[in-house]
Amino acid sequence: MALADQIEPLKQAALADMAAAADLAALEQTKGKWVGPQGQFTGLMKQLGALPREERPAAGKLINAVKGELETALAARRAELELQAALPKEPTDFTLPGRRRTLGKLHPLTQVTDDIVRSFRKIGFVVADGPEIEDDYHCFDALNTPADHPARDTHDTFYLQDQSHSEPETRNSQLLLRTHTSSVQIRVMEKQPPPVRIIVPGRVYRRDNADATHNPTFHQIEGLYVDKGVTAGDLKGTVEFVFRELMGADVKIRFRPHYFSYTEPSFEIDFTSALVKKLGKDWLEIAGCGMVHPAVFETVGYDPEVWTGWAFGFGIERIAMLRYGINDIRLFYENDLRFLRQF
Ligand code: DAH
Repeated sequence: MALADQIEPLKQAALADMAAAADLAALEQTKGKWVGPQGQFTGLMKQLGALPREERPAAGKLINAVKGELETALAARRAELELQAALPKEPTDFTLPGRRRTLGKLHPLTQVTDDIVRSFRKIGFVVADGPEIEDDYHCFDALNTPADHPARDTHDTFYLQDQSHSEPETRNSQLLLRTHTSSVQIRVMEKQPPPVRIIVPGRVYRRDNADATHNPTFHQIEGLYVDKGVTAGDLKGTVEFVFRELMGADVKIRFRPHYFSYTEPSFEIDFTSALVKKLGKDWLEIAGCGMVHPAVFETVGYDPEVWTGWAFGFGIERIAMLRYGINDIRLFYENDLRFLRQF
């Protein structure tokens, strides 16, 4: 039989063989049988040399075309068989319960902070931030608390040994870990003209020994509102609104006269609720606040004859402890999952 006449039946047989290969191993054998070095198709190509010279080009072209077809068919069948091999042998039971993925959670202090921030944002406050490594100008002096002021004694401050400080505008370069978020009041007012309406959640540091109610690092939220004609009534209404949002509609607050160097008059905020009563208390002290002292405005270049304002600061741990009935502040920092999972 002429070479050309042998090609078509060989091709058909090869294609049928490939289609019949039941798995990848069988397909490999089929491949060897037809197009491998000893394969039938390869054998056909070897006969090419025996053809008369003028018939060779046409026959060679034909053989190459068929070889291409066979390779394409081989690859297609291989893909089919690979897919088949990858599918599960047993049918999937879609009625089985799924595997639950363990999701992380936010730390209770973060949750409380987020809630407080959300409440203040509703009434137009924005979040501001400042450095935890502060200088004593922003932490004390600018807040009307000079070095010899007795109020500094109540803040047991961590001072940093390295006193080099790169900020050019800093008048006093003693570096420390901020003892309160009030320093950010100064940082913000230095940078922007009034009006100001900010809250500042952040970490603060004090040289306290850890016990059930103290920890050397804890968190505060500072608030500052500066505008024309701001009153202590605005302050009280704002604090009341936020605490009701946080702790429930039955919350009552009261202001007691107090002293802070950066506010005048100054108050301590007490609050009560069914929860507080359950703890056997009438009132709980929760925050400090007051009307911004004119000396502070002068320091940052705001005209105290034009601008008025109030500020407050409270501890986030304190609120979280009340809210969740936690009796030891240290639990927040131990990262014990048995504790954290409860919130
Ligand atoms: N900085 C005070 C503290 O750490 C809290 C405070 C009191 C903040 C009165 C204020 C304020 O902004 O006006 O105890």
